[in-house]
Amino acid sequence: MVSRKNTDERYVIREATEDDLPVLVEFLAKLALHVAGAQPQSLKEDERDRLLAVLHSSLTAANKQLVVAEVPGAGLVAMGYIYVLHNQGIWEQTSHVEYRSGVIDDVWVEPDFRKLGIFRAILRRLVAFAESRGAYELILEYSASNKEAKAAWTRLGFKTIGVRAAAFTTSVQEVLADRQ
Ligand SMILES: CC(C)(COP(=O)(O)OP(=O)(O)OC[C@H]1O[C@@H](n2cnc3c(N)ncnc32)[C@H](O)[C@@H]1OP(=O)(O)O)[C@@H](O)C(=O)NCCC(=O)NCCS
Repeated sequence: MVSRKNTDERYVIREATEDDLPVLVEFLAKLALHVAGAQPQSLKEDERDRLLAVLHSSLTAANKQLVVAEVPGAGLVAMGYIYVLHNQGIWEQTSHVEYRSGVIDDVWVEPDFRKLGIFRAILRRLVAFAESRGAYELILEYSASNKEAKAAWTRLGFKTIGVRAAAFTTSVQEVLADRQ
């Protein structure tokens, strides 16, 4: 277990490499189950392959960065990901304006290594990447039920500015059919 003291000397924050990807796929699977509030289950082979391909593509793309935390003796314990989006302003502009946003996703810290500042250290790296690519804002989504994510993001300077709503197509069709 990493002690709270001198944690910055006890783990390494670095860019992910190809060798890390199998572990990172496991982290993504745990994150999906965590967000869904579901019981642990093993990943289907084709889903594992799909996630590996997605992660692999982020290793070489100039607008993406995949960062991991590694603890000597324990291996990888956390991951975080950012990609930079380019948006054109949609209103008439006197000059050409291009907005760039850093989108943060796929954040996971192994339970035994939480609240030690590891994600803060990963975020520092992701923010440096966003800045190096000229992103003027950072965006992310978290599930409304994910209280620890809300608490951590708030501590890290993020404000909740919107609500993402979701529904099954069939449910909406049923509601609309009621009032034809
Ligand atoms: C959310 C998560 C990434 C935080 O990682 P972490 O390494 O424990 O975070 P840190 O130790 O770097 O803490 C960062 C800040 O958030 C706060 N924080 C972290 N977890 C918290 C919690 N459960 N409740 C309240 N505050 C919390 C810390 O106090 C710290 O603020 P401070 O430095 O001002 O004191 C981690 O709990 C996790 O992986 N959760 C499951 C996956 C998940 O929810 N991912 C986010 C999806 S959007």
